[in-house]
Amino acid sequence: MSTTSDLANQALELPGGAGGMQSLTAAGLPDPAVLARMANEFFKDAPVQAQTAGVSLPVESKSEARQEASLPASGSSARLPTEAELRALTAPEAALPAQVGVGTAAPGIPRGVPASDFTGVPGFGFLNDARSLYATPPAVPVHAVPSPATMSPATVKIPTETELREVTSAIPGLATPQIPSSTRDWSQPQVPGAVVRGAEPAQMLPFGFLADVNPLESLDVAPSLAPVAPQAQAPVNVGLSSVPFDVSAIRRDFPILQEKVNGRQLIWLDNAATTQKPQAVIDRLSYFYAHENSNIHRAAHTLAARATDAYEAAREKVRRFLNASSTREIIFVRGATEGINLVAQSWGRRNIQKDDEIVVTWLEHHANIVPWQMLCSEKGARLRVAPVDDTGQIILEEYEKLLGPRTRLVSLAHVSNALGTITPVREMIAAAHRHGAKVLVDGAQAVSHMRVDVQAYDCDFYVFSGHKLFAPTGIGVVYGKSDVLDTTPPWQGGGNMIADVTFEKTLYQPPPGRFEAGTGSIGDAVGLGAAIDYLDRIGMANIGRYEHDLLVYATDALRRVPGLRLIGTAREKASVISFVLDGYRTEDVGSALSAEGIAVRSGHHCAQPILRRFGVESTVRPSLAFYNTCEEIDALATALWNLKSGRGPAVI
Ligand code: ALA
Repeated sequence: MSTTSDLANQALELPGGAGGMQSLTAAGLPDPAVLARMANEFFKDAPVQAQTAGVSLPVESKSEARQEASLPASGSSARLPTEAELRALTAPEAALPAQVGVGTAAPGIPRGVPASDFTGVPGFGFLNDARSLYATPPAVPVHAVPSPATMSPATVKIPTETELREVTSAIPGLATPQIPSSTRDWSQPQVPGAVVRGAEPAQMLPFGFLADVNPLESLDVAPSLAPVAPQAQAPVNVGLSSVPFDVSAIRRDFPILQEKVNGRQLIWLDNAATTQKPQAVIDRLSYFYAHENSNIHRAAHTLAARATDAYEAAREKVRRFLNASSTREIIFVRGATEGINLVAQSWGRRNIQKDDEIVVTWLEHHANIVPWQMLCSEKGARLRVAPVDDTGQIILEEYEKLLGPRTRLVSLAHVSNALGTITPVREMIAAAHRHGAKVLVDGAQAVSHMRVDVQAYDCDFYVFSGHKLFAPTGIGVVYGKSDVLDTTPPWQGGGNMIADVTFEKTLYQPPPGRFEAGTGSIGDAVGLGAAIDYLDRIGMANIGRYEHDLLVYATDALRRVPGLRLIGTAREKASVISFVLDGYRTEDVGSALSAEGIAVRSGHHCAQPILRRFGVESTVRPSLAFYNTCEEIDALATALWNLKSGRGPAVI
């Protein structure tokens, strides 16, 4: 059921797509998420070549004829129906049967759906009929769902052309492109509504990969939040729309961002813990389980072939995302933690011996400390720790002093989950290699913020979790260089990872199969592929630029809150901000923000050593993604101002 709790008395429930029931406002107009979804559905059938941002047809299943997925002839261009056309088309469906529901909105279905697909949705029959302009033969069954007795077609408002156009701005290639190209004017900040402020120096460098094109001084932005104005309004637009990153359109791709919690609009600032999922990923998962679900590799039947193709297509997407040289270098695991444990227990147990040294940094997540401690303890090896300075950046000279003939492995975070520091991975990897050590990079907190290039970094291993990359939980990746994986023994034994088994001897598969014992998270891997497709359509460089500006904005806003102390102020940072608030326990701040609908993490963030380095046991940690906005930052800062001034919600 829809959870638009505050609108419950005004809302009309509709049978929804994959998510079930969807809501209409009292005015009869669907909420933005529903509108976006309907528009995605509608335009997916249009004879255009561009991919939509919201949902795309899965193209992985090469093993069988895909007559149901055939695209309409390309060449003609899509056009929006006029409002008059929409109204004319809508007229017949007033008498449509109430018991026919919408099918799942899974990718791939709409190109073959019968025209009845939307007929259970009062007011939206025009989508069927208009779509029939591009009709293809029905092929995929549509599941009927009961229609609520309360449904009243008369109360449904038809979206106007203007409204549809607004919705379709989420769809690059169909509407006016909203994502800036690389020709951005860097003399202006990119966060919509941010106010240019010239006097004070910026607090941090842009992400490393942007350093060449993104001069520091040009990104100095200040929040509109006045120091003593807790009721701060959203920042005014000062004419920056010529270089918009269309965050409003992007937000419509994430249904959970419409959620209300504690009577407030959800503000999700806990992206370092996990990211929210775009509809494209939700739909892809749904489609997998509706049409492709099977175990992979073993069975010679059609669904096994579909599932295998989808799984291997996801591996190729990950390869491209990381710029690995081969899919043989891409191992699917459950997450970054499992990935590090895999390397420790396979490569590590073979290559780390007594008196060898493993170097980590003070910034590490527990997942990049404990597996190495366990290995050191088993082998009699030694764990050494590279220190950080008072901003939270690794002291390179001290790091290099730790490297020597006994160093076998350096394992370091690409981005600190607790402070946001972006570490100088290229320099650190090169230094480790000069000493013959291998390098693992924990990319769990980096992949959602920047373009990763494992070949350029020259790392030996790179790990990340899908759920921090807008993909499902339960899937993660280990990249390993081919020559390193070829000489690495397996970790877990079982099915899938073998070539031949007798009671005397087992022959293993080559990588990556050798490291994927048992049945993996097949559907989640496919969902990860969909998340990567989604990010590709927006562009990691665009995401990086936007987030950098948002981070500068947020850092400045929070610095103005009395008694707030930032923990971690490195010049190179990704979108994580840690702080403590004078006079308040971090859990109390977290609770107070939650009461305002704002989700942040408070605690030790599974990174106790780095917090203790700064003299604290826990922090409050807002962490940003590309769907966050200046307005949300203002709401966060305002809530903190209110808390400090005693106007906030009661805390324990
Ligand atoms: N590692 C995740 C975090 O930093 C859970 O919150």
